[in-house]
Amino acid sequence: MQYVLDRFAAEIRAALAATGLIADDEIDLAEPKANVPADLALPCFKAAKRRGVAPPRLAQELAAALSFGPDSLVGGVQAVGPFLNFTLNRAEFVRQTIAEILRLGERYGSDDRGAGQTVIVEYSSPNIAKRMHVGHIRSTIIGQAINNLLTFLGYHTIADNHLGDYGTQFGTMIAAMERFGRPEGEGEAVLAAIEERYARYNQLKGMAADDEAHDPEALDEEARAWSLKLEQGDPYARELWQWMVDTTLRANQRAYDRLGVRFDTQHGESFYAEMLPQVIAEAERLPCVEREPGGALVVKGLRDTNGKELPNFLIQRSDGATLYITRDVATIIYRERTYHPRRIIYVVGQEQELHFRQTFALARAMGYARDIELIHVPFGRVFTADGQPLSTRRGNMIYLESLLDEAKARARAIIEQKIAEGKTELPAEQIDELADAIGVGAVIYNDLYQDPRRNITIDWERMLAFEGNSAPYLQYTHARCCSILREAGITTGAALPSVDPAVLEDEREVAVVKQLARFPEVVRRAGEQYAPYVIADWLYATAREFARFYRDLRVLNAPTPELRAARLQLVAATAQALRNGLRLLNIRAPERM
Ligand code: ARG
Repeated sequence: MQYVLDRFAAEIRAALAATGLIADDEIDLAEPKANVPADLALPCFKAAKRRGVAPPRLAQELAAALSFGPDSLVGGVQAVGPFLNFTLNRAEFVRQTIAEILRLGERYGSDDRGAGQTVIVEYSSPNIAKRMHVGHIRSTIIGQAINNLLTFLGYHTIADNHLGDYGTQFGTMIAAMERFGRPEGEGEAVLAAIEERYARYNQLKGMAADDEAHDPEALDEEARAWSLKLEQGDPYARELWQWMVDTTLRANQRAYDRLGVRFDTQHGESFYAEMLPQVIAEAERLPCVEREPGGALVVKGLRDTNGKELPNFLIQRSDGATLYITRDVATIIYRERTYHPRRIIYVVGQEQELHFRQTFALARAMGYARDIELIHVPFGRVFTADGQPLSTRRGNMIYLESLLDEAKARARAIIEQKIAEGKTELPAEQIDELADAIGVGAVIYNDLYQDPRRNITIDWERMLAFEGNSAPYLQYTHARCCSILREAGITTGAALPSVDPAVLEDEREVAVVKQLARFPEVVRRAGEQYAPYVIADWLYATAREFARFYRDLRVLNAPTPELRAARLQLVAATAQALRNGLRLLNIRAPERM
C-alpha cells in the first residue's frame, strides 16, 4: 500500500533519479533532525564522494535541477550544507491525508506487504487445570497484539494456543479428584479448586505414613498408575482428563472474550504425542544425540544459530517418557508440514530463552525449518506496585480473571466518582460496559506500552490515571473527539461537511495531520519488530498533539464556517486513526466517557 508519506518519498526519489545526477542506490532519504524545518532530507555524502565533488556542491546542483508542480506533494526543496531538504506541499498533504483516512476508515494503516505469507503466532499457552498467572497474561496480551499487527499488514496469520495438557502431573490430578471429588463451578474458581486438590494430594504424599489411607508410597503409586492409564488411553482416565481440558477452556474463554482474544487453533502438547516415537527415532540418528547407559537420550554439544554451544539436554528419560522440548520439536515438524509458514513466533516469557534456543537448534539439526524463521519474542516479569515479585510460593500471585475483575471494579469506582462530581453524564446502563472497557483496557495497555522485555508493575494509580501515558487517557481523547462530532450533529458513519481541508494551515493543525499520516509507517515498524509499544507511543503522541490543537483552537466556534467544517474533518480523522491504533492493541474505544 502507498500512503501519502510513501507517495511523498516516491515522488522525491523519482524526481531525483530523473535529474541524471544521482544513482538510485545513492538515494537514502532520511528523517531530518527535529529542529530542521523540513519533512525529508537527502544527505549527499555518499553520492558526492563517488563523484569526487564536495557534498554541498552536489546538493546545490540537485536543488537547481529539481522542480515540482503545484499538485505535487513536494512543496519545496532547498540545499542546506551537505543536505537536500524537502518540505511537504501543505495544502496537498493535508487534503490527501484527511481524504485517505476518511475513505479507508478502519482499514487506514493496513497494508499488503504480508500478502501470500503464512505466519504462525503462538501465545497464551496456559496449562490445563490451572489458572492463568501473570506469565500467561502477558503472553496472551502481547501475542494477540502481535497477531493483530501482522494480520493488519496482510500476513495470513494462524493464532495457536499451545496448551499445556500433557505430563505426569495429570495422573496426580486424576488421583486427587478420585480421592477428593470433582469440583463444580465455573471460571477461575473451579480451576482454583482443582489446584487445591492437587496441592492437597501432594501434601498428603509428602507426609510421613501414619495410617493406611495416607501411605505416601501408595499415594505415589496411585498417581503413577493413573498417569500410565491416561497414556494408554484408558477411557475413564481419558474422560477425566477431557473434563479438565473442557473445564479449563471454558474458564479461560470468559477472560479471552473480555480481552478480545481469539485463536485459530488450540492444539495442546498432547496433540503431538503420536509423533513422538518418530521424532525420537529421527533424533537418535544424529551424531550429537547419545543414548546413555541408563536408557536416557541426551543431546550433546549442539550449537545455536549464532554458533554458541548449548548446554546438553534430555529428549527422552530413562523410563521412556518424553519431555517438553521433544513435544516442541514435534510441534515444529507438524506446523511445517501442515501450514508451510514463513515464520513461527513464540510469545513466551524470557525464562524460556534457553529452551527455545535448544528447540530451534535441534529442529534445524534434524533438517526441519530450513525455510522458516523461528522467533522467540520474550517478555519480562511482573511486580507489585512496591516492587515485590509475584509468585505462587509467596502467595501474592495474580490470576487473569481476578485481575480483570479488580480492574473493572476500580474503573467503576472512578466513573461513579466522576458522575457524582458532575464531570460526566452517563446513562446508568452504560456504566457497566464502560467500566469493563476502561478496566480491561488499562490492564492491556500496562502490558503493551513499553518494550515487552521490560518488567512491568501492577500499579493501579498509574494504569487508571486519566492523564499521562495510560489507556484511559487515550480512550478519553477518542471519546472527546466523538463528543465534539456529536455536538456538531455528526454521528458515527454520517457524512462530514464537504469542504477542502486545505484551509487547515495553522501549525497546530498541520502537526496533528502529520502525526496521523505517520500511522501506516508506525504499523509497519511495530509489526516487523514485534513491538506493540511502537503503536502505544504513536497513540500517546497523537493524543497529546490533538490536545494542543484543541486547547488553542476552536472547533465548534471556529472563526469561519469553512474552518469549522475542516476542523471537524480533522477531528473525525483523528478519532478514526486513534480507534484503529487502539483496536490493534485490543483496547476498546467507547464513544462516551
Ligand atoms: N505451557 C507452557 C508454560 O506454561 C508455555 C508453552 C510455551 N510454548 C511452547 N511452544 N513451549 O510454561
